[in-house]
Amino acid sequence: MTQAVRPIPSDPAAEEAARGPCGLRHVGIIMDGNGRWAVKRGLPRVFGHRAGVDALRGVVRHFCDLGIPYLTIYSFSSENWSRPAGEVSELLGLLKRFIRHDLADLHARNVRVRVIGERASLSDDLVSLLEEAEAKTARNTGLTFVVAFNYGARQEIVAAARAMAEAVYTGRMTPDEITEEALARHLTTSGIPDPDLIIRTSGEQRLSNFLMWQAAYAEFVFTPVLWPDFDRAALDAALLEYGGRKRRFGGL
Ligand code: IPE
Ligand code: IPE
Ligand code: MG
Repeated sequence: MTQAVRPIPSDPAAEEAARGPCGLRHVGIIMDGNGRWAVKRGLPRVFGHRAGVDALRGVVRHFCDLGIPYLTIYSFSSENWSRPAGEVSELLGLLKRFIRHDLADLHARNVRVRVIGERASLSDDLVSLLEEAEAKTARNTGLTFVVAFNYGARQEIVAAARAMAEAVYTGRMTPDEITEEALARHLTTSGIPDPDLIIRTSGEQRLSNFLMWQAAYAEFVFTPVLWPDFDRAALDAALLEYGGRKRRFGGL
C-alpha cells in the first residue's frame, strides 16, 4: 500500500518563526520520579516506569494541540546503565514497546520523531527501531518529538570536540573556525533550537547531564509532581510559570 507523503516544509523562515504559547519553541522535560511513584504504592519500580509511559503519551498529545514546535524528553541517560540489570532491561523494553505501539499514532498526528544520544552500544534491533521511527516520520511537519535515549551532554560535547579536532587535524577546518555555531552544529541536536524551558518533575533540582550546552539560557521549572502523575493541568501550570519569567540573555 502506498503512503501519502506530506510535503517537506518548503519555507524554513515559517518554520523558524513557528512558536507556541508564550513564544515557546522548544520545551525539554526531565521525566523523573517513576520509581518513587511506584514505591509510594507498595509496587515494584517497573510499575512506575510503565505508568510513566502513559503520562508521556498524554503529554505528547497535549503538545500537538498546543503548537509548540519542539519537545525533547529525557528518557534514558548515559548514567542510567548503572541501575540494576532488570530495571535497565525493563526501560529498554518499554522504549521498544512504545515505538512499536505508538509510532503509527504519532505519524497520524504529523509528529516528526528524532532520537538523540549514543547508538553504537545499543542492540541492532533497537537501533533499527529508532531508525524506522525517524525515517517513517521524517517528512512530517507538526511537532518534532526528540527522544533523548542513552544521552549524556558531557559525552555529546566530547564527541563534538573530537569531531572538530579530527577536522582540523585532516585540514578540513581551521582552529579559528571552532566557534559556538560550529560546536552546536556538531552536537546531536544540530538544527534544533535551544530549549526555552526545561521542566523537571519529582522535586529534584538538577540537570543530570541533560542538554547542558543547549540549556545555557533556558528557564527551569521544577515541580514536585512525580512523572506518572504529570498531566495536562501540571503541564499548563509549568507553562504559566514560564509565561511569568523575564528572559534577559545577559541584556537589560
Ligand atoms: C525517571 O524515574 C525514569 C528514568 C530515570 C529512566 P526514576 O526511575 O529516576 O524514578 P526515581 O527518581 O527513582 O523516583
Ligand atoms: C535523569 O533522572 C535521567 C532521566 C530522567 C532519564 P535520574 O533519576 O537518572 O537522575 P539522578 O540520578 O537523580 O540525578
Ligand atoms: Mg530519578
